[in-house]
Amino acid sequence: MTRLFSPFKLGRYQLEHRVVHAPMTRLRSEPDDTPSAMMAEYYRQRASAGGLLITESSHTMRSGRGYLGGPGIYEDHHIAGWKRIADAVHEQGGKVFMQIAHDGRQSHVDMTGGIPPIAPSEVPYEGLALTHNGWVPVSPHKAATIDEIRALVASFRTSAERALAAGVDGVELHSANGYLVDTFLQDGTNRRTDLYGGSIEKRARFLLEATEALVSVFGGDRVGVRFSPSGKWGAISDSNPEATFGYAAERLNHFGLAYLHVIEPRVMGVETLHEGQAPVASVFLRNKFKGPIIAAGGFDKAGAEAILQKGDADLVAFGRWFASNPDLPERLRRDLPLAPYDREAFWGGTDYHYIDYPRYGEQANGEEKQAA
Ligand SMILES: Cc1cc2nc3c(=O)[nH]c(=O)nc-3n(C[C@H](O)[C@H](O)[C@H](O)COP(=O)(O)O)c2cc1C
Repeated sequence: MTRLFSPFKLGRYQLEHRVVHAPMTRLRSEPDDTPSAMMAEYYRQRASAGGLLITESSHTMRSGRGYLGGPGIYEDHHIAGWKRIADAVHEQGGKVFMQIAHDGRQSHVDMTGGIPPIAPSEVPYEGLALTHNGWVPVSPHKAATIDEIRALVASFRTSAERALAAGVDGVELHSANGYLVDTFLQDGTNRRTDLYGGSIEKRARFLLEATEALVSVFGGDRVGVRFSPSGKWGAISDSNPEATFGYAAERLNHFGLAYLHVIEPRVMGVETLHEGQAPVASVFLRNKFKGPIIAAGGFDKAGAEAILQKGDADLVAFGRWFASNPDLPERLRRDLPLAPYDREAFWGGTDYHYIDYPRYGEQANGEEKQAA
């Protein structure tokens, strides 16, 4: 048997295979940021018995949103939409972890409710946010005060409480891709000189407090954390990623987490960059983090099998291939061809190229549609 299709105990859950759905923001929530029925259908289609899905990022605060259509978990009325997703996945025998995030400086005043986006420090940044006026340059951000940092940590805790009420199996802290938690951790974006910046220990404080907030609600064995130590999305950088992420991973051991989820250097955000480069998990995090590692970023079946065989990761998350192949685990298991994904339909839109991809051998829209 391949390792990819061997069982694995992740935290308190028994998984039947190691093909994980990577978090993917698809911007199809209701106008009030409640997950839509269409989203529940998306996850239902991709759930498999004993398989793990990690959801798109869900925001802890209204002012923590950077993309119109991304779901929230910042108000109680969002719980019902998430419950629909949790129920849909459970009906298929799957498990679902909600990714919990704050977009930090990757935002715009039209999305934050008029207040400047918040970040650890004011370091000029020229990214884009998605608002009612389409993709626009982000608004200038401001450095969070200590009181605001306390409120941010509290928002992670209350969001976790809502997630628990919605019935998801666990939560993943989004500490990747240049969003808020990541900007505290990395020194290119954290120039603070107080409790939350300066030394590596202080830069890691916000990550550890946010993790603790999630763990206090779910227990460590139902919480994961996501890192992208070599990611450049969000103009993020660190002068010594090995030291920074190595320290952070070691400190996370204290929580007995379900997993550490690591984006490999082969992708920058969603662009494939350096095929064949050594996976980051094997470079330094495997030795630091004592729990399971999920690797993500540019994997196909052979690459996934290779990293598992080598022992550098325990599970592998797939993003884009899951978008166009709802039955991805089954296709990988049986070596079936994969349907190509449609980048144009990634961010926002209708059910087109979102929930209309057939399972292998099924009809799509009444036509015989053979996977390419
Ligand atoms: C449309 C899209 C949306 C994404 N949204 C998120 C997100 O919400 N949170 C996150 O941590 N990563 C996000 N990612 C990154 C993916 O989780 C994954 O790391 C990346 O796509 C590389 O994996 P792949 O080569 O298997 O697609 C997104 C990627 C895509 C393509």
